[in-house]
Amino acid sequence: MAQRPNLTYLITAGPTVEDLDPVRFISNRATGKLGIEAAREALRRGHQVILVHGPISEELLKRLPKSEGAKQRLNRTAVRSAREMNAACHAGLGSVDVVLMTAAVADFAPLRYSAAKLKKAVQGRVIRLKPTPDILKSLGEYKARRHPRLVLIGFALETGAGRGGARQESQLAEARRKLERKNLDAIGQDTPEAMGADSAVFRVLARGEREGYLVSATKQE
Ligand code: CTP
Repeated sequence: MAQRPNLTYLITAGPTVEDLDPVRFISNRATGKLGIEAAREALRRGHQVILVHGPISEELLKRLPKSEGAKQRLNRTAVRSAREMNAACHAGLGSVDVVLMTAAVADFAPLRYSAAKLKKAVQGRVIRLKPTPDILKSLGEYKARRHPRLVLIGFALETGAGRGGARQESQLAEARRKLERKNLDAIGQDTPEAMGADSAVFRVLARGEREGYLVSATKQE
């Protein structure tokens, strides 16, 4: 039987952090578990992995395989902001076969970084924000223009609106909207309970399919 060729995965993990001053930042509760588990699994299966991650714990990084072979197939870049993650993702994209965009990229960054620590004495301080680059959307544009065989998989954490079935429908509709808007092949939709947990309920929606299917699994699975 012909051996499956090894693939190159670009996997993003963890939150991004957008600095406001030397001690304060905007971020989110993502831990990086899903991305690290995905990287571990891809390495275990003999694939090449480009791992780009925001600030995540040393403990989690220790889960990456330690064999010489795996170390050689792993190219790891630690970043802080969405801008840095964007640049790291676009570098070397030509050799990538599959993108797993598990990172929780902060959507907003402070309009201005203050080199001096902001003082609390200012009454009713207003912090102006600017949008960060939508990394996955730009990867979707790259796929459309230059690399049609690139497989793009995104994730969407949705709270949805309404109750019960209506809530689930709205979560799925939102995930579908992102799948189309960002030119993805598939999207995994989960809910805030998944953050930091070892397992999650994902609804996986592939391009062109109407119904998503439910996967209740550990992040490793
Ligand atoms: N994503 C990204 N760059 C951003 C924001 C999100 O690459 N600036 C990626 C995430 O890694 C995820 C997918 O896009 O794989 C969906 O992210 P999500 O935050 O759910 O969607 P948004 O595009 O931010 O949309 P909204 O704020 O409307 O929910």
